[in-house]
Amino acid sequence: MEFNWAEWTGVLLRFAHVVAAIMWIGNSLLFTWMELRLIANTRKDEDPDLLGHLDMLHGGGVFHLEKRLLRPNAIPSPLHWFKWQSYTTWLTGFTLLCVLFYRDGLTLADATRTDLSGPACAGLSLAGLVGGWLFYDLVWRSPLGKHPLAGGAVSLLGLAAAAWAFGEIFNGRALYLQIGAMMATCMTANVFVHIMGNQHRFMRSLKSGQPHDPAYGKRAKSRSLHNHHITFPVLFLMLSAHFPRFHAAEWRVAILLVVVVALVAVKWLMNARFFFRGWLASIFGVVLLAAVLIGLFLHLPARADTTGAADPRVTQGRALFEANTCATCHMQGSSQIAPSLHGIYGKAQPLADGRTVTVDDAYLRRSILEPQAEVAEGFAPAMPPYEGRFTDTELDALVAYIRSLTPG
Ligand code: HEC
Repeated sequence: MEFNWAEWTGVLLRFAHVVAAIMWIGNSLLFTWMELRLIANTRKDEDPDLLGHLDMLHGGGVFHLEKRLLRPNAIPSPLHWFKWQSYTTWLTGFTLLCVLFYRDGLTLADATRTDLSGPACAGLSLAGLVGGWLFYDLVWRSPLGKHPLAGGAVSLLGLAAAAWAFGEIFNGRALYLQIGAMMATCMTANVFVHIMGNQHRFMRSLKSGQPHDPAYGKRAKSRSLHNHHITFPVLFLMLSAHFPRFHAAEWRVAILLVVVVALVAVKWLMNARFFFRGWLASIFGVVLLAAVLIGLFLHLPARADTTGAADPRVTQGRALFEANTCATCHMQGSSQIAPSLHGIYGKAQPLADGRTVTVDDAYLRRSILEPQAEVAEGFAPAMPPYEGRFTDTELDALVAYIRSLTPG
């Protein structure tokens, strides 16, 4: 077996990416929690530099934490900065995007909607990452930035426009990942440009003997709060490959927007628990409302049947395919994890044991029920067996659906 460098880099990078993201998001959650729990200093006359304090029990002792203004002549050393968790998350994520998606740009496109080439799709995705940041940054630098609700609404409109536009070209899985990557890029750019930028300026001004100017911190803090509130939607979108029912749905853009708004609201309510008694009930309310909306979108009739199927078995097969997470591995236009099923019907399929079989109804049925019996060449025997999972009619429907898939 030849060395598949993309697969190995994929494994290493994914692991590093997840670990870095956990460290970054863990920090963001803990720091925001500390800000919210800080007991404000009531004795400003005794210690004017002390903003507040907090005690935390951990590891057999108490961390007695104080948040204070810094004096130019008393900068503590070592002073810890937090940025590499964020940079590592973005760098590993971006490399993954390049290795797994841009290199094989076809995995981004929805071949039933566009003829765009792989590199063109990769170019559009990149433009989205840069454009998304420029748009978001401009909105919050403009006068709108002074009004969180207005700024948030305009940012959401921009996100909706991007989701709609990419949804016209990208397949569902790539669309969710693209929007997640755009939001995550804004988060890291926030750290790089605003949070670190202001911290550097602040340290420079202190070192030149200027008094502590809280304006630097304020500017950094609003971006850091944005990051904090979009962590949940970004996590959801990054994991969305496992939720094919959402991203494969006809109304995937609407579902994506519901998820983003609901999860920002949930994060906000979680923070509100220290001053808002109805926070838990409200979280249940938000989740219920989102579930009802998503349920509606999942059951709305398709705008147009993109499979072009007159055969009801194909429509049923497609629904089964999406509901049984087949699409998690069998992504359209991609053979990263599992063979693409588009255009395989009638073809000769080489098997791992050296035989070659013709893909017909019987082979498709066997492949679904007992995938390990005949493993397609070049793939790991990773498909779960579905023996006993489907009725005969359902199997027929799945086979009819796979038969209907045109090359792409
Ligand atoms: C965990 C990932 C995974 C899931 C989920 C999955 N498959 Fe597969 N599938 C694979 C892999 C890997 C192969 C190639 C190895 C093999 O032939 O067993 C494969 C092979 C196949 C083949 C044979 C394709 C060929 O070119 O010979 C068919 C047909 C198929 N899958 C259909 C389905 C259907 C239908 C579902 C959902 C009910 C499904 N798969 C769910 C991973 C998956």
